[in-house]
Amino acid sequence: MVHDGPMSESEVTINVLADGPLEVAGPSTIKGSDGSTLKAGDKAYLCRCGDSANKPFCDGSHKREGFSDPGLGKQD
Ligand code: FES
Repeated sequence: MVHDGPMSESEVTINVLADGPLEVAGPSTIKGSDGSTLKAGDKAYLCRCGDSANKPFCDGSHKREGFSDPGLGKQD
């Protein structure tokens, strides 16, 4: 299902940012592989370039490393 209208207060949207991280927008909890809470809040940025020193979070390294991806995905 595709939503283009206003989000509900409880909806989480993951936005792929061009040449950058995944933006998690909406109330969410990011948990580590051991189940511990790494971050809880309304916004988080997850690394998708692989160069962050603070994975799974973006630390801005994508800019220094010149990460390039339009973030459009592929349609099947
Ligand atoms: S996307 Fe920002 S450090 Fe990887």
